[in-house]
Amino acid sequence: MIIEINQACDLVIFGAKGDLSKRKLLPALYKLEKSNKIHKNTRIIGAGRADWNIQEYRKIAKTAIKNFLNEEIDDIIWRKFSTRLHFCNIDVYEKLHFFRLKKILDQKKNIIIHYCAMPPDTLNSIFIGLKNASLNPNSSRIILEKPLGVCLETSKKINNQISKYFSESQIFRIDHYLGKESILNLIALRFANSFFFHNWNNKTIDHIQITVSEEVGIEGRWNYFDTTGQMKDMIQNHILQILTIITMDQPKNITSESIKKEKLKILSSLKSINKSNINTHTVRGQYSSGIIKGKNVPSYTEEQGANKNSKTETFVAIKVNIENKKWFGVPFYLRTGKRLQCKYSEIVVFFKKMPINLFKTSNLQEFQNKLIIRLEPNENIKVDFLNKKPGLDQEYKLENSQLEYNYLSKKYPKILIDAYERLLLESMRGIQSLFVSREEIEESWKWIDPIIDAWKKTKNNEIQLYQSGTWGPENSNLLLSRDERFWYEFN
Ligand code: BG6
Repeated sequence: MIIEINQACDLVIFGAKGDLSKRKLLPALYKLEKSNKIHKNTRIIGAGRADWNIQEYRKIAKTAIKNFLNEEIDDIIWRKFSTRLHFCNIDVYEKLHFFRLKKILDQKKNIIIHYCAMPPDTLNSIFIGLKNASLNPNSSRIILEKPLGVCLETSKKINNQISKYFSESQIFRIDHYLGKESILNLIALRFANSFFFHNWNNKTIDHIQITVSEEVGIEGRWNYFDTTGQMKDMIQNHILQILTIITMDQPKNITSESIKKEKLKILSSLKSINKSNINTHTVRGQYSSGIIKGKNVPSYTEEQGANKNSKTETFVAIKVNIENKKWFGVPFYLRTGKRLQCKYSEIVVFFKKMPINLFKTSNLQEFQNKLIIRLEPNENIKVDFLNKKPGLDQEYKLENSQLEYNYLSKKYPKILIDAYERLLLESMRGIQSLFVSREEIEESWKWIDPIIDAWKKTKNNEIQLYQSGTWGPENSNLLLSRDERFWYEFN
């Protein structure tokens, strides 16, 4: 068995009581333990406002791992993992509490990593508290969750605040989509295959659709979600990251600097959406009650803790244009929503129709080659094309065919790496390439802010209700049918 030697770390999780820590971080760390990726002296210190002792924290962690990993916990692995877990009762607004943390940390031997799984408005207190207790030495690292801020101004503010106490090489800004196998594969697909490489521009591509559909609602996170909405929760980060990866030019090399540089060029070329085009370019919706997989689910405003009058969007569809030579005239249609029919993410590349039809018995005007990249679940790649129907017919008869490659499920059934697993490991290794730069985040906000602003000011673009378990509000279809296009149906 190969044991990977990372540096020994003290990983502090601020927000240990929170959803992210229980749902994603602890299960991912347990999986890393299982695959022997964690240094033997690494420790995990949950930090939060609770007077749990170590035993209580370990018990809570075990339940969370069991619930969210959906597998039986292996006793031997758990015993090893649980000895790494410690807890520090800390209120991040109390400067002196950081000295409690200092007592637990082993600064001489271990590299300290602070994971801030806390809302944006608490971050500065964490930075200052860490600085006061000298818990920000050059060797330490700090991980920031998305969304970073709630607009350009607040994002800049956080970046300016953190830059007083940590240098850029210490800051890891997370977007967990960048840790997903299928998203990383997009780079290989585009830049290792001349077939795709040469056909990736406005001469061959008609338009591209990106769907990230979620079945879950807001999972008890009403307070967080209601001030965020789907636009800041999903589009500003995950979906814009997918968009930049599929549209960026070939980077000079495969280093994080070169890739980030290309992604940034795309972000700064996004055509702005404002009051003048908000109605033709965006749709927003909020889920009403409905049935998903045979189960009744409540509306957004009936969720636990909800404000009945909330106008926060849980669904967004946007038509995006990129103002550069390569993509001039190619629309990108993005959509994402909660409580839709099922969970799946997909990119569909529609190629241009044939200019001339040699096959008079077929209506080529109806047909477009498509490349369908299923990001999850069941990662696969399909190509839609036409074939001659075999037979003695005098005339050519064409039929639709599909090439399909199951990227992960068949060939590598055991390699199911969770995005957080990969990113936590990268942070322990001290490698920043799968993290997002300050510039990318600020550039995204520059494009997002005017949209949110226009939504507030434009009366006709009111939020539309959609029934849970459907594909979103009716206007989402209108966004495409106006251009004589249709959403590629889930199948
Ligand atoms: C998170 C959002 O960043 O991503 C959640 O805050 C969303 O609201 C989640 O549900 C989706 O992630 P995934 O990996 O399940 O697609």
